[in-house]
Amino acid sequence: MAYQYQPCFFLLFLLFSVNASVLAFQQRPKISAVDLAALSAIKDSLTDIPGSRFFSTWDFTAPDPCSSFTGVTCGFNDRVTILSLGTGLSDSPGLAGSLSPALSNLTQLTQLILFPGLVTGPIPPQLGQLTSLRVISLTNNRLTGPIPPSFSTLPFLHTLDLSSNRLTGSIPPGLTKLPSLKVMVLSWNELTGELPRTVSAQLLHLDLKKNKISGPLPRLPSTVRYLSVSENWMWGPLKALESLSELVYLDVSMNQFSGPIPSSLFLNPSLTSLFLQRNNLSGGLPSSIKMDPTFQSYGGKGSIVDLSHNFITGDITPFLAGVETLFLNNNHLTGSVPEEYVKSVYDGTTKTLYLQHNYLSGFPLPQGSTLPDTVSLCLSYNCMVPPVGISACPASAGSQPSRPQSQCSVFTHRGSTN
Ligand SMILES: *[C@@H]1O[C@H](CO)[C@@H](O)[C@H](O)[C@H]1NC(C)=O
Ligand SMILES: *[C@@H]1O[C@H](CO)[C@@H](O)[C@H](O)[C@H]1NC(C)=O
Repeated sequence: MAYQYQPCFFLLFLLFSVNASVLAFQQRPKISAVDLAALSAIKDSLTDIPGSRFFSTWDFTAPDPCSSFTGVTCGFNDRVTILSLGTGLSDSPGLAGSLSPALSNLTQLTQLILFPGLVTGPIPPQLGQLTSLRVISLTNNRLTGPIPPSFSTLPFLHTLDLSSNRLTGSIPPGLTKLPSLKVMVLSWNELTGELPRTVSAQLLHLDLKKNKISGPLPRLPSTVRYLSVSENWMWGPLKALESLSELVYLDVSMNQFSGPIPSSLFLNPSLTSLFLQRNNLSGGLPSSIKMDPTFQSYGGKGSIVDLSHNFITGDITPFLAGVETLFLNNNHLTGSVPEEYVKSVYDGTTKTLYLQHNYLSGFPLPQGSTLPDTVSLCLSYNCMVPPVGISACPASAGSQPSRPQSQCSVFTHRGSTN
């Protein structure tokens, strides 16, 4: 009879032991102990700004932080691979506090993201030890101090976005040599110094807008598609742009670049956003004849070219007549506006044409056509009386319709002696 109960006993025992091991397994958090300690230190140095509830799911007694903590993703080995701090929702005020050096214990991390908030203090240089990092994005906070030079040793770093903080110091020279770096966004900081001489990283996107970077533009890799160095203290020629045949967006405005505009820029039909305004550029506008006789016009739908507030001289060439939004104002342009522009404005190809504050002597009005309502055309403060009713200027153009005759005679005189 005892025999009959034996299997049953065994089964009970088996059931019990399986159950116990399942329980034991569930009680051990499914995350490495080092990573759990690091997450705890990271949480201790940050707080939700009232209205943000990011850390509400970070319960350190929870059985499975890898699946229950918002912003935490684990890979195999129960190690944290992606950490997104904050929600990035537009109605969330984000986090305050600082970034803990304990981040450097998450050694399998491939992506570190900090969403907009009020996080202060430095970027922990120890992050440079996380050699698996591919993405570092710490934007729109109040981070101070330098970009850690230790980032220059991250072999797989693909995207570095530190925009809209209060970072100071210069760009570490090793950063622009990183073999995997494709996207570097350091805009809206207080970076100083010159750009590293060697930019060997095969960058696609480089945005340094609104810093205090000085010096010349170095040679950049021909892979660059998006380039902005707008609103810095840079100077020298724009010659380095000549090799950038993949550009689709270029903004070097509000610096002190000088010399001629590289005409090769206009040979690239995909470069349809071109901002060169408020520099010391001189020389003439590109002309199709000088460049490539088969390439007749530049521009097209959605194109925008701003060359305003420079020292560009000579006649307006017909070359830019196909541009949709064109700013040539505040230069030293002379002569009569070519018919090609007048035609473009009247048929709606060109929607904005600002020519004010030059030394232009004529705008050949077509007989019997009316200007489309959608066109913004400004001709004021030139060496002509703008045709009545067609010139619509921004307030910055001032109220004087024409330039004083005394300033115009200089150019007329020069024209007649040449
Ligand atoms: C990293 O983890 C180790 C072991 O848990 C710990 O002793 C050390 O303090 C941690 N480092 C940081 C920077 O918190
Ligand atoms: C740019 O032009 C301004 C005004 O002519 C001049 O004062 C300044 O020295 C120029 N800067 C450079 C770097 O050429």
